[in-house]
Amino acid sequence: MMSLLHMTLISLTLAGIAYSQVTSLPLLPTVEIFGELGNNVTLPCHYFSKESQVFGNRIKWIKVADDEALNEDVLLSMGLHTKAYGRFENRVFLTMEGDASILLTDVTKEDVGQYRCEIMNGMEDTVQEVILKIRSFTGVVFPYSPHLGRYNLNFDAAVQACFDQDAEVASFEQLFEAWQDGLDWCNAGWLNDGTVQYPITKPRQPCGGSNNQPGLRSYGRRDKQMSRYDVFCYTSELMGDFYWLEQPNRLNFDEAVQACIDDDAEIAKVGHIYAAWKLNGYDRCDAGWLADGSVRYPISRPRKNCSPTDPAVRLVGFPDKYQKSYGVYCFKAGPSGDKRQ
Ligand SMILES: *[C@@H]1O[C@H](CO)[C@@H](O)[C@H](O)[C@H]1NC(C)=O
Repeated sequence: MMSLLHMTLISLTLAGIAYSQVTSLPLLPTVEIFGELGNNVTLPCHYFSKESQVFGNRIKWIKVADDEALNEDVLLSMGLHTKAYGRFENRVFLTMEGDASILLTDVTKEDVGQYRCEIMNGMEDTVQEVILKIRSFTGVVFPYSPHLGRYNLNFDAAVQACFDQDAEVASFEQLFEAWQDGLDWCNAGWLNDGTVQYPITKPRQPCGGSNNQPGLRSYGRRDKQMSRYDVFCYTSELMGDFYWLEQPNRLNFDEAVQACIDDDAEIAKVGHIYAAWKLNGYDRCDAGWLADGSVRYPISRPRKNCSPTDPAVRLVGFPDKYQKSYGVYCFKAGPSGDKRQ
């Protein structure tokens, strides 16, 4: 039995080499999967076509390391034989007949990273890369700078600024997770441990250098009284409804505040617009006043003239409060559910 598996491994390795030199692979887009610590997660990998679901397919899952020499075997399956390796023993299972997806149970921090699924049958080979990430926070991290402009908050003012947006200063773990999730921001902000950092996913010259790896760039611990930066705030799910208030005319700031009050609500805070956008997929291409005097709009479906490249909450600015140029976003506290757009 052992020797059979051993031989299988060797022939798989050989097949893998031959295959990468000769056949052109169906290049499937890398899939990103979010799991939760301690829970089960399915890593997807499907046969390329119906015809390729023949008996005797070899399925190989490995965990890919930065240094390919340190790749870990996860699971190997050939016909009736399936074997899981190392710390994946008794933890990974093929989920379905005719499919190469695996169920990974009891997800740990060490499981985070890149996996590669290879289906080999000598006719049509498939390679699927899957990146497993962990989501342990259910809220959203957002960068904040007040109307005074960039780099104006000492630590206490940063705490107050987040509080005023119905949020709190983010932790390192929260910012790290937001970075893994794609947050890229080139202004440094306070975190709740008194350090000042910023998340870069697309390295470039003005943001800590284009030769550096993506990551959190840290200025380290800063003087909480004297140093002034922006702040990263964290807010969890919305406890109420965030909505665009239909109005016949454009409003100045005071009219916007009053319009929400007249609708039995309050003018929305920056934390509300981020939570609605990130956690509820709120999308509206209309610029509206918010409580801090800023004007923003939330785009979760990028399109022409509305944040065309990325989903984002777009900042128009902190306009003159007498300017009658915008609409308003309101927030009504209470059980959420009635999601008006
Ligand atoms: C994870 O999967 C295993 C095996 O299928 C099952 O016994 C267990 O109940 C699952 N755990 C959770 C949290 O769903």
